[in-house]
Amino acid sequence: MKLIQVEELTKNFRQAVKSPGLAGAVKHLFTQSYREKLAVDRISFSIEEGEAVAYVGPNGAGKSTTIKMLTGILTPTTGSIVVDGLVPYQQRTRNAKTIGAVFGQRSQLWYDIPIIESFSLIKDIYEVPSDVYKRNMDRFTEMLGLAEFLNLPTRKLSLGQRMRADLAAALLHNPKIIYLDEPTIGLDISVKVKIRQFIKELNKEQGTTIVLTTHDLEDIEDICRRLIIIDHGRILYDGSLQAVKDSFARERTFHVQLKEEAPQLAHIIRQHPEMILEEQQGRQLSIRFDRLRFTAGEILALVMQYGEIIDFRIDEPRIEQVIRKLYDGELELNQQLMGAYNR
Ligand SMILES: Nc1ncnc2c1ncn2[C@@H]1O[C@H](COP(=O)(O)OP(=O)(O)O)[C@@H](O)[C@H]1O
Ligand SMILES: [Mg+2]
Repeated sequence: MKLIQVEELTKNFRQAVKSPGLAGAVKHLFTQSYREKLAVDRISFSIEEGEAVAYVGPNGAGKSTTIKMLTGILTPTTGSIVVDGLVPYQQRTRNAKTIGAVFGQRSQLWYDIPIIESFSLIKDIYEVPSDVYKRNMDRFTEMLGLAEFLNLPTRKLSLGQRMRADLAAALLHNPKIIYLDEPTIGLDISVKVKIRQFIKELNKEQGTTIVLTTHDLEDIEDICRRLIIIDHGRILYDGSLQAVKDSFARERTFHVQLKEEAPQLAHIIRQHPEMILEEQQGRQLSIRFDRLRFTAGEILALVMQYGEIIDFRIDEPRIEQVIRKLYDGELELNQQLMGAYNR
């Protein structure tokens, strides 16, 4: 059985619209009018134990609404969700023992009490055995660098500290699944890297299933093999990250450092109809090419004809650029690509 099974899941928000002022309030008593928002529209997917899945899409796509239904915070309008044999919105308490959740926009910790006290309360609420608690606290403190602020209340923490504390809190009871809704939003790069590393290890070493929504597409390259793209409440793509890259990210950039300047080489690349000289600074060159047109070996051989190589590196395009184009409708995903994902 799949760990997470979602079928034809829909969430339609229905909000009463009020006219302003007293007249509006009185009128409201008699004639209710509603505004509807179809936030999630008949989505289906399933996730196996141990997978790390990136759930991405532009603002307002329906990501957080999906996560809230998965965690049991929201009740679906129609469709079904089963998580580890439970229906989250009907069995919230039991479901809570299986899952952890981190919402980048809002802390789950008590505002006014020291972090360490919050952790201790969570230990009691979730009935975490003392040895498990101690082991996890030691590990999290070390990996996430919690020691310096364990005695401070949440309200005194920086955003990066708060996020690390929230992450630890969500994992104290060793959940099978962790839902992370924009866990790196607004963080500086050093904290992001730390959090990514932590999540990655959690998945690799503990086998914890990860569902990650993020705006920061660098997060997903680091952590996830599978990608689900949602827009306007509909799933646009569900498949491997690599398949998307292979199809849409064919460009490679060859960066090379030569022993001496090689003006002739630069000239040849500039003249070449299928190569682009990205950058040249003295003995450094960057050459862009299509990996289906040339192999890296061919580029290397060409460069070696004109100069002695001291160092080189080949860059792939960032998935960031590819997915932006998908959102903007510049690329069309086809069924074949979806089918390329075989598990
Ligand atoms: N409680 C709510 N009431 C009404 N509309 C909502 C509510 N929550 C979210 N929405 C709307 O549903 C859509 C999806 O929101 P959300 O799931 O938060 O998107 P995302 O997390 O992908 O940015 C948006 O148009 C949002 O304005
Ligand atoms: Mg959101």
